[in-house]
Amino acid sequence: MVQKILMICLGNICRSPIAEVVMVDTLAKAKIEGVVVDSAALGSWHVGNRADPRALSTLKNHGLKSTHIVRQIKKQDFTDFDYIFGMDEDNMSQLRNLAPKGSKAELLMLGDFGLSEKDRIIEDPYYQSGAEGFETAYQQCVVACEAFVKQRLQK
Ligand code: 4NP
Repeated sequence: MVQKILMICLGNICRSPIAEVVMVDTLAKAKIEGVVVDSAALGSWHVGNRADPRALSTLKNHGLKSTHIVRQIKKQDFTDFDYIFGMDEDNMSQLRNLAPKGSKAELLMLGDFGLSEKDRIIEDPYYQSGAEGFETAYQQCVVACEAFVKQRLQK
């Protein structure tokens, strides 16, 4: 059966589009097929936009590309997706509040896979000047996606 993974953050222009692309890349490297990966926002501010230019340039520096158009999470996502990942504690509490009773999706914080206690929060880099925070988020996503795939998807 096709597994479906949804990456969530506040705006869907910084962390979750990076996490989406990194998860796709991680699955390809692990030669795992039949997994659908998408991302979405908790907020509606950037719906219809592409990722922040700093997210796009960070991905480009690593040979990767995002063509994602921002969308906002909807109730149906909680039954369509198997795994919904938040990036920080605030994302997680918003996801728990939005989740309809009996929804299928497992709500997980991405940094709980493979990252140490002090690095498990993928911080919002949007309001930071420069692109350093984007590179940090990218590196956290690489470690976490690899660990998740190893723990949950590889036989
Ligand atoms: P993201 O970053 O959640 O990693 O996409 C943000 C982008 C935009 C806003 C907040 C966070 N905003 O408030 O517009």
